[in-house]
Amino acid sequence: MTSKTLAVPAVALGTWAWGDSGEVGDGYFGSQLTESGLRKVVEKAHANGFTLWDTAVVYGMGRSEAVLAQALKGYDRSEYQLSTKFTPQIAGDGEDPVADMLEQSLDRLGTDYVDLYWIHNPADVARWTPLLIPLLKSGKIRHVGVSNHNLEEIALADQILGEAGFRVEAVQNHYSLLYRSSERAGILDHCREHDVRFLSYMVLEQGALTGTYSPANPLPEGSSRAVAYNGILPQLQALTDRMGEIGEDRGGSAADVATAWAIAKGTTPIVGVTKAGYIDGLVRARGIDLAGEEIAELEALADAADVDTRGSWEHEMFKAPA
Ligand SMILES: NC(=O)c1ccc[n+]([C@@H]2O[C@H](COP(=O)([O-])OP(=O)(O)OC[C@H]3O[C@@H](n4cnc5c(N)ncnc54)[C@H](OP(=O)(O)O)[C@@H]3O)[C@@H](O)[C@H]2O)c1
Repeated sequence: MTSKTLAVPAVALGTWAWGDSGEVGDGYFGSQLTESGLRKVVEKAHANGFTLWDTAVVYGMGRSEAVLAQALKGYDRSEYQLSTKFTPQIAGDGEDPVADMLEQSLDRLGTDYVDLYWIHNPADVARWTPLLIPLLKSGKIRHVGVSNHNLEEIALADQILGEAGFRVEAVQNHYSLLYRSSERAGILDHCREHDVRFLSYMVLEQGALTGTYSPANPLPEGSSRAVAYNGILPQLQALTDRMGEIGEDRGGSAADVATAWAIAKGTTPIVGVTKAGYIDGLVRARGIDLAGEEIAELEALADAADVDTRGSWEHEMFKAPA
């Protein structure tokens, strides 16, 4: 019953870092971002056909959505797509917390509809999913996805929406060379078989898989990502070195290879873009065709790194056999 099939570019753009205040120690990424710099990111992205922007209320508690709207000013609403999320963990106690949270997002985003609306985390699938139905019917949300849900939770959400003639059209989970739990749990196969788009987030492991950061040049002091990754950077060196070599062969970088890998696996990466120059990397990644042996070699190196990069907000995707 959804109006049109969900159309997704080869790569979607992530704006979690855009929610940072810019103060060291006050924000997840510790990046210094400016309004004019982010405007340049938008201009370059749009010029290259990357028009799907992913955000969430909880990225800087509304700041990412507001900064994104500002950076998109002047573009016609039909020229870009917005993806934002209902986060059950911060639901209000009104009659319809989903409608309330969406209304606030629409306000910050300066629009009257969201192209792709997600349940951010699976707090209580049976409670929250039905509240999406009236929003789909009214057209305030055009398509629905679930994030960080395991197979059973995806199936339950799909069944609930199915009873009203809608469906789960997309899944958004952490998926990178270092973190392949959705693949091991059969979620990628499920999505392929049921024509559900799989959007992979943190394919660059927040910078740890770009080759930019190393034990000699760690992630920014005082940021949450430094706490998550700086301790494991020595174990990633062999992998990022090889990614760099493969990238160089194709005129690109380790980061481009991480993104190309996610595309090669049949997913749509959501890449966190903080600098206009990173869009060049997405253009290159879109054109890199990794060979099967290269994919296998990179995955073997990733496994040998023996690290667990599961986010603190994520739950285990794999259901151990009873
Ligand atoms: N649903 C969920 O629960 C969930 C969770 C996490 C993320 N997400 C979504 O997925 C998006 C992506 O994840 P993320 O932003 O956390 O991390 P990411 O995409 O793995 O990494 C982003 C970081 O990588 C660096 N980078 C990006 N492109 C680069 C390039 N071409 N070359 C070198 N470095 C590059 C930037 O760091 P510097 O600024 O330091 O250069 C940037 O901040 C988020 O923004 C968000 O939209 C969703």
